[in-house]
Amino acid sequence: MKKGKKLYEGKAKIIYSTDSKGLVIQHFKDDATAFNNQKKTVIDGKGVLNNRISEHILKNLSQIGIKNHFVKNINMREQLIKHVEILPIEFIVRNIATGSLTKRLGIIEGTVLDNPLFEYCFKNDKLGDPIISKEHITTFSWATKKELEKIDNMLLRINDFMVGMFRGIGIKLVDFKVEFGRLKTGQKTEIILADEISPDTCRLWDSNTDKKLDKDRFRKNLGNLIPAYQEVAKRLGILHEEANVRHVNFSKPKSVKLKKNK
Ligand code: TMP
Repeated sequence: MKKGKKLYEGKAKIIYSTDSKGLVIQHFKDDATAFNNQKKTVIDGKGVLNNRISEHILKNLSQIGIKNHFVKNINMREQLIKHVEILPIEFIVRNIATGSLTKRLGIIEGTVLDNPLFEYCFKNDKLGDPIISKEHITTFSWATKKELEKIDNMLLRINDFMVGMFRGIGIKLVDFKVEFGRLKTGQKTEIILADEISPDTCRLWDSNTDKKLDKDRFRKNLGNLIPAYQEVAKRLGILHEEANVRHVNFSKPKSVKLKKNK
């Protein structure tokens, strides 16, 4: 399989074509951005960790029947994925109130929600990814009612699975963002999970201390982002001990070594 030309470059990832029909390469960069690109930096090793963590979560999700774009790991920063037409919507699931929910509606930070709350945002950097209703999505044909029903059902299952998975390793899944795409095979088109699931796209708090183990470390200038992501990878069982993860002081490792796929 040969890597072809760059098809698309986003804030944290690049998509390259391949010579295999229907497959593309997703490359994870070290770039970190927040607040719609107003704040940015490069954090050495972030892409490697997100590549591995996203692979692990998506593989687990496919084992419980959540179809997704992941095909196989290529190297530390790249994975082979199915080429899909990404819906222009960010799907957010919240279990605990924080972030824009507390700012927008004055909900008290840390409020545990009785049920998962779904929010939909229009993916448009110029407009700052505004929150939208399901009616906007169907009115402007960004997705059909049937597709949305399928996605809501998948969101519930993804959330249930991930809450349990993280709970088992002492982490609260506070909220997360996912994206979906249309996969065309012959005459058939189906909606599958795409993009990534990583500490860049989730809020993850240590169960005992509420310590943030996600991109809020960058958004809120808390520092030590790499040790926090390594902590997540280590607890998921996908980081070698020699990667120098000592959770108290979080000294920066020389290199990040990740376990190979099984
Ligand atoms: P928010 O509280 O800032 O709306 O974020 C909700 C969740 O979505 C949180 O887990 C972070 C994630 N997220 C992204 O992955 N990309 C984004 O562009 C934004 C705004 C949030």
